[in-house]
Amino acid sequence: MKVTVVGAGNVGATCANCIAHADIVKEVIVLDIKEGVAEGKALDMWETAPINLYNTRLIGSTNDYSKTADSDIVVITSGLPRKPGMSRDDLISTNANIVKSVTEAAIAHSPNAIFIIVSNPLDVMTYCAYLTAKVDSSRVFGMAGILDTARYRAFLAEALNVSPKDIQAVLMGGHGDTMVPLPRYTTVSGIPVTELIEEDKLNAIIERTKKGGGEIVNLMGTSAWYAPGAAAAQMVEAIVKDEDRIFPVCAWLQGEYGLNDIYLGVPVKLGKGGIKEIIELKLNDSEKELLKTSAEHVKDVMAVLDNMAVA
Ligand code: LAC
Repeated sequence: MKVTVVGAGNVGATCANCIAHADIVKEVIVLDIKEGVAEGKALDMWETAPINLYNTRLIGSTNDYSKTADSDIVVITSGLPRKPGMSRDDLISTNANIVKSVTEAAIAHSPNAIFIIVSNPLDVMTYCAYLTAKVDSSRVFGMAGILDTARYRAFLAEALNVSPKDIQAVLMGGHGDTMVPLPRYTTVSGIPVTELIEEDKLNAIIERTKKGGGEIVNLMGTSAWYAPGAAAAQMVEAIVKDEDRIFPVCAWLQGEYGLNDIYLGVPVKLGKGGIKEIIELKLNDSEKELLKTSAEHVKDVMAVLDNMAVA
């Protein structure tokens, strides 16, 4: 199996590093437009193979897509990250042009690849890649839900003083302040979280999760990479190993949840070939309302893309 990671910035490099350490594919190609950066990072990572004992070969390239030929999976991390004071939506015009040209070049060399989008604004960049790739939506989807859910689970583990391994949760909607955490679907080893934490503390964690990306931007002056990179790598692993894992993923909806023609975070079954199934939860009225608000926000940003002359 061969995986390409486009963008050797912090997120792309972390993702490639996580995939290599999992030792699940033969080759990881890392591509970047900055001369030598992808080659340097890939070489540095490859030099950890004898220490960390994996076989995956890491190869870097400065924008030579012929090296990515016949990839099974392409992860797109390219684009500018946020700076303090910016919302993810502020990145749309710059990143849409980048995601479009990257998708075009990548699919030309790997017509059968599965595309995982990580660039922001996530839901709309996934839509942009889908419009460009012109392949079935089961093969084009975005990484946000695993990251947002991981933040939520990490904060809960801290508050409850339990292992993060035991916290299961699902989070839906767009990758932004309108995301929809679902306490009804959050458990600690099967115990409903609401039996273990007071409502006001849980609400504070939900609010912190919604602004989880911004919290890191404010601390570092740029956006996160360890958790986003690891989250994208986990999706790659589920596909490569045909694990049929249930993850929240930014997927193309055609009637599910009463929504049409929109990329939005929903639980899916992920395995060989990409999205095997979109899972429809029986949301209650207030959860439905939150999802509707999130969908409306994403639709507004999708309309900005539709009205933009993406070069
Ligand atoms: C975040 C960015 C990567 O949430 O969207 O950290």
